Amino acid sequence: MKLTSVVAVLSALASATATPTPTRERAATEPHKATVSDKATLGYATQNGGTSGGAGGTVTTVSTLAQFTAAVALNNTAPAIVVVQGIINGTAKVRVSSNKTIIGLPGSGFNGVGLLFLKQKNLIIRNIVSSNVSASYGDGLTIQESTNVWVDHSEFHSALVSNKNYYDGLIDVTHGSDFVTISHTHFHDHWKTSLVGHSDSNGAQDKGHLRVTYANNYWSNCNSRGPSVRFGTAHIYNSLYVNMSSAVNTRMGAQVLVESNVFKNVTSPITSVDSTQVGYATANGNDLGGKRNVAPYGNLTVASVSYNYTLLGAENVTAVVASEAGPILVF
Ligand SMILES: *[C@@H]1O[C@H](CO)[C@@H](O)[C@H](O)[C@H]1NC(C)=O
Ligand SMILES: *[C@@H]1O[C@H](CO)[C@@H](O)[C@H](O)[C@H]1NC(C)=O
Ligand SMILES: *[C@@H]1O[C@H](CO)[C@@H](O)[C@H](O)[C@H]1NC(C)=O
Ligand SMILES: *[C@@H]1O[C@H](CO)[C@@H](O)[C@H](O)[C@H]1NC(C)=O
Ligand SMILES: *[C@@H]1O[C@H](CO)[C@@H](O)[C@H](O)[C@H]1NC(C)=O
Ligand SMILES: *[C@@H]1O[C@H](CO)[C@@H](O)[C@H](O)[C@H]1NC(C)=O
Ligand SMILES: *[C@@H]1O[C@H](CO)[C@@H](O)[C@H](O)[C@H]1NC(C)=O
Ligand SMILES: *[C@@H]1O[C@H](CO)[C@@H](O)[C@H](O)[C@H]1NC(C)=O
Ligand SMILES: *[C@@H]1O[C@H](CO)[C@@H](O)[C@H](O)[C@H]1NC(C)=O
Repeated sequence: MKLTSVVAVLSALASATATPTPTRERAATEPHKATVSDKATLGYATQNGGTSGGAGGTVTTVSTLAQFTAAVALNNTAPAIVVVQGIINGTAKVRVSSNKTIIGLPGSGFNGVGLLFLKQKNLIIRNIVSSNVSASYGDGLTIQESTNVWVDHSEFHSALVSNKNYYDGLIDVTHGSDFVTISHTHFHDHWKTSLVGHSDSNGAQDKGHLRVTYANNYWSNCNSRGPSVRFGTAHIYNSLYVNMSSAVNTRMGAQVLVESNVFKNVTSPITSVDSTQVGYATANGNDLGGKRNVAPYGNLTVASVSYNYTLLGAENVTAVVASEAGPILVF
């Protein structure tokens, strides 16, 4: 069943060493061709029947908040692909119904507009730039009581403003949500980046759920929560972390498997702090930047992950992930 392969990086990638920009450490990269009806191909979102979003449904292009809100309205759970054209500005929290794919054309997404998946199933977000959602409108993306969610090739950010509670999370996964994959996504310039499990007292709803895969993500200039996990199960691999105080924080009995990641200038790469009970971590093949994994040793292992996956190897992560994470898809 289980095959963890370490693949050769395409020679094309290995040779793509354009000058990085000073703040993003991202090489110039060829856009990736994708289709609007792609289904989740990696991580926990491939389990529990898989995640197809709006595949097979109508395709609607939206460029205003009103059009977007109508296209994802709760009274219509039929599969639909919603193509976002341009940046939709506003101050709002938009609740999205089941069976939707939200895809951005190059340079498209939301500014100030938070997305909420509450009590829904089967949702995909790809190629979206989300910025500056104030805490009054939730997180960039809030996933609550929802299952089968795939976030891929997107960018979530705000700014390290002086009030660290002005913004809440970039992507928070809470209230018993399950089967979530966040892949090839760039998180940057934010305080409280990604929270899995919102409260020490929510074990009744969360235990046995909150299974989240974080693969091939780039986290830069984020203070903490890369991610913070209570009660759940998180598999974190092939990711690049630069300039963080705390990255992986495992709490309240959470089990995390942390493999093939690179941590540069991260004070606490893997830890267990700030809860009434510790969580656990298994760490394999990471470059911890001279630091140590200080979380108690866990039991989530390669053998207990229920899907196939590919490790890049820590020595390959910086070159590949800094250039591949983010909204580089073309449709
Ligand atoms: C990390 O922080 C340093 C110092 O502020 C900055 O020069 C550098 O660009 C940051 N790295 C990234 C990848 O943002
Ligand atoms: C959903 O509600 C809106 C009005 O709020 C209406 O225009 C639309 O036809 C409804 N859609 C369905 C599928 O019922
Ligand atoms: C949408 O998704 C839900 C949950 O996956 C499913 O039960 C339902 O049949 C779907 N709705 C439609 C109209 O296809
Ligand atoms: C949203 O604001 C950005 C600038 O911040 C602008 O480029 C974009 O055109 C705006 N979008 C709309 C739909 O007006
Ligand atoms: C987000 O906020 C920061 C700081 O408040 C600002 O510099 C940036 O331009 C904003 N982004 C957008 C897309 O408006
Ligand atoms: C390391 O990251 C911190 C933020 O966590 C930043 O303030 C500092 O400038 C960075 N140092 C270097 C050498 O990049
Ligand atoms: C790992 O330990 C937890 C208790 O922390 C237990 O509930 C779980 O069944 C164990 N899983 C495996 C695969 O041994
Ligand atoms: C994993 O890969 C192996 C070899 O390709 C295959 O036989 C197996 O079915 C795969 N398992 C899953 C869960 O996809
Ligand atoms: C890194 O990538 C090279 C190919 O570019 C591959 O030969 C090597 O095995 C990879 N390293 C690891 C640890 O997987």
